Amino acid sequence: MPNPETATKIAPEISGFPELAKDGYWDGRPSRGTPSEAKAARASAYVDDELQRELVAVRRANAYALFPEVEVDAVGGHATVEGVRQINFAQNDYLGLSTHRHVVGAMKAAIDRYGSSRCSSPLAGGYTPLHRELELLLARTLEQEAVVLFASGYQANVGLLSALADPDTTVVSDLFNHASIIDGIRLGGAELRPFKHNSVDHLAQILKSRPSRRLLVVVEGVYSADGDRAPIQEIVATSHKYGALCIVDEAHSLGVLGPHGRGAVADADALADVDILTGTLSKSLASVGGFIATTSAMADLIRHRARPLIFSASLPAAQAAAASEALKISLEGLHLRTRLWSNKGLVAQRFRAAGLDTLTSTTPIIPVLVGDKFRTFQAASELRRRGVLVCPAVPPMVQNHLSRLRLHVTAAHSSDDVLAATAEIIDVLG
Ligand SMILES: Cc1ncc(COP(=O)(O)O)c(C=O)c1O
Repeated sequence: MPNPETATKIAPEISGFPELAKDGYWDGRPSRGTPSEAKAARASAYVDDELQRELVAVRRANAYALFPEVEVDAVGGHATVEGVRQINFAQNDYLGLSTHRHVVGAMKAAIDRYGSSRCSSPLAGGYTPLHRELELLLARTLEQEAVVLFASGYQANVGLLSALADPDTTVVSDLFNHASIIDGIRLGGAELRPFKHNSVDHLAQILKSRPSRRLLVVVEGVYSADGDRAPIQEIVATSHKYGALCIVDEAHSLGVLGPHGRGAVADADALADVDILTGTLSKSLASVGGFIATTSAMADLIRHRARPLIFSASLPAAQAAAASEALKISLEGLHLRTRLWSNKGLVAQRFRAAGLDTLTSTTPIIPVLVGDKFRTFQAASELRRRGVLVCPAVPPMVQNHLSRLRLHVTAAHSSDDVLAATAEIIDVLG
């Protein structure tokens, strides 16, 4: 029998794989899942030389820090990876609600009632009263007529932009916009014109040069890359001056900014002006899923055109229930936002004092510039060894010379966590 210390335990109920489940252990012998040499060679040949060399170099440096396997995470702000307890700055759980008993309880109750999945697209039968409740709650929170839910924030942006951004449209998009926005524009076939990050002058210049096109402007309330904010009022005024619709992605701002955490657009007092808001349920709302909030007419158009609503299974009811509960807590969660912003201030102040470059961050997303992807991987690996989990942001997330560690500070962290983690980061990068 294989050594139980090292062999992987196979659940006895996996009876469909007798050769794996023998004695309840997989002893590492080749199974049907091990590719033939020819198949492995075909896969390797497909990966180009540059990527191959890079992977080998990263593995040799023992610096591969992506896809950490989180074993236990029952306490917000912490995780255990490869047996080492981590202070976790690699999750977007800004208000620490992913382990809140009411959020988890709402999700369990929804599973009891609606099962694990409706196994159906929203169009065909994946929509439940829990979806409706979340739509109404989000619509009220964001003062919009209608909300459409998606199975992820990525799908919401791809669905929205591919539905609206047809080849007769020019989309003027902030250079730092998230990949989901760019992918949606590409799928719709529109002309994509990036404007310099947060430059209202450059935005106006591009809009002025496109008088005969249908125009969309897209920005993020808080930018996921650098943790800075869009000048929403100027962006909206400039968009409307040139006849463009204005879209704001609230992924990192809902729950974090504005009165009652209602987001960056609410904070700019522009809920009546921004034409379409998009967002995710996977950050402050401690779930998974995405949404679009807008007028009823626009929502209907999106419902009938957005391909992820037609060709993909719906958001599970349990995820909608968790997000509704988290949103209710967030709206009353001044104490959580106070802790979040106090933690953010402490991290920023410690990094500043140590001379680390946090770029233009003014929010709980705090990048620390490293400037090279290998050094970034190495720093993230060393920090994980020391019990601090951070995201290495490297190409294609950012350009190589802008590779950085990225921290998501949350309300679940204690000030002891913050002090301990920042001390390790300063030591590793110093
Ligand atoms: C700005 C922005 N929009 C959309 C998304 C996609 O969200 P989701 O994780 O729900 O797919 C992200 C994810 O990181 C994001 O940062």
